[in-house]
Amino acid sequence: MRPLNKIAVFGLGKLGACIAATLAARGFQVLGVDIDPEKVRRINAGEAPVEEPLLAETIRKGRGCLRATSDVNEARDTDASCYIPPSPSLLDGSFSTEFLLRAMQPMARAVRAAGNQGHIFVVNSTTTPGSMRGVILPMLEHETGWTCGREFGLCYNPEFIALGDVVRGLLEPDMVLIGESDANSGQRLADLYQRYNTNHPHVARMSLTSAELTKISVNSFITMKISFTNQLRLIAGKFPDANIHDMLAAIGCDSRIGSKYLRAGLSFGGPCFPRDNRLVSYVARRHGLEAPLAEATDRVNEATKHALAEQVAALVQPGDTVLLLGMAYRPHTYIVEESAGLYLAHHLKQRGCRVLVHDYQAKPENSPSLIEFENLDSPEALPKDARPKAVALCCPWPQYRDVVLPTGAQVIDPWGLRRDA
Ligand SMILES: NC(=O)c1ccc[n+]([C@@H]2O[C@H](COP(=O)([O-])OP(=O)(O)OC[C@H]3O[C@@H](n4cnc5c(N)ncnc54)[C@H](O)[C@@H]3O)[C@@H](O)[C@H]2O)c1
Repeated sequence: MRPLNKIAVFGLGKLGACIAATLAARGFQVLGVDIDPEKVRRINAGEAPVEEPLLAETIRKGRGCLRATSDVNEARDTDASCYIPPSPSLLDGSFSTEFLLRAMQPMARAVRAAGNQGHIFVVNSTTTPGSMRGVILPMLEHETGWTCGREFGLCYNPEFIALGDVVRGLLEPDMVLIGESDANSGQRLADLYQRYNTNHPHVARMSLTSAELTKISVNSFITMKISFTNQLRLIAGKFPDANIHDMLAAIGCDSRIGSKYLRAGLSFGGPCFPRDNRLVSYVARRHGLEAPLAEATDRVNEATKHALAEQVAALVQPGDTVLLLGMAYRPHTYIVEESAGLYLAHHLKQRGCRVLVHDYQAKPENSPSLIEFENLDSPEALPKDARPKAVALCCPWPQYRDVVLPTGAQVIDPWGLRRDA
């Protein structure tokens, strides 16, 4: 069985750049392909094309094995090609395959022209279940004129990473998920992971559609756990002597439940959790079913954001100043998509408040939706004329534990970070 040594990585964004860099650092010959010339330039200059902890060091480590290009033809002789372009959500909750098709079609033609039989196409972007078998596979057979599972292979191989922890998450996953068109392709990809991972994860191999369903089910289950804690936090808040942190610490000790993602806090956000969970609802609806658990998870998440906004709004009047700490959807990333902080900032601004915001990474330069608020360089460096009536800790950056908060302000700390809240 021919090992996968030369790998093309299409899409050098937040996830793809880390996949390319970690593969190269582990000794694979990697060719990154992106339509964005700046990302290509940065990789070739040995620089990180996106902000992500450990990425720059990993690129430097793998530099002799990593190159990038915008020319698909340069990738035609590789053993496998991985695809990580965007797969944006459509209005009905399904994910678009448009970017995947645009990346894969020219490569399929190039592989065919090179007579590169045995090539494996690996999709890492999240897809709507059924797309691999119903859209991607027929397109590849059409463009190559070959039969999938015979002259080329197809795998679905999503990664379970969190932004801010992508490099470690790729190298040390709990589980590697492989959907395969045929056993030979799945085995070759599993062998690659044996040389790539620095731990010994469970490798779960299955059909293409089983893997597509499994990917979104993992995220849907995790978000269900988060919504459970948020629902419980709101209920416990009605009892003066109930402490949600004590309660969840005990509940998480039951090994049937487990303590991961069972921490009191705020809503989930970011580019994966909310939309993967909504995709579960879409898939159920599309097949004449309901997914009440996924829908309730989403509803509780929206209610959690709303409850926070109401809690803060009850403490202030129009014209008052509010300080929001933590705008990213989780610590160690700059992404603010669907974050609790962003929701609250909009809500308070609409109510006529002056909104000061701070985050250690999310800044107007990398997150344009923050431009409309007053962004602070330091959580302690307030404008001279600002006297916040309330401070809300929206994202649990550990540094917020010890910052000096403005005197006289009411502190809202859903994460239980501070002793003075
Ligand atoms: N970011 C995450 O946390 C995460 C986690 C799990 C899964 N995913 C999935 O990974 C995929 C990519 O996410 P991301 O956050 O890395 O996106 P991103 O927007 O940061 O990066 C996508 C990259 O693909 C490039 N691209 C677009 N069309 C291309 C083409 N035809 N050929 C080559 N390159 C092309 C873009 O220029 C960009 O550099 C999505 O499907 C997402 O659902 C992301």
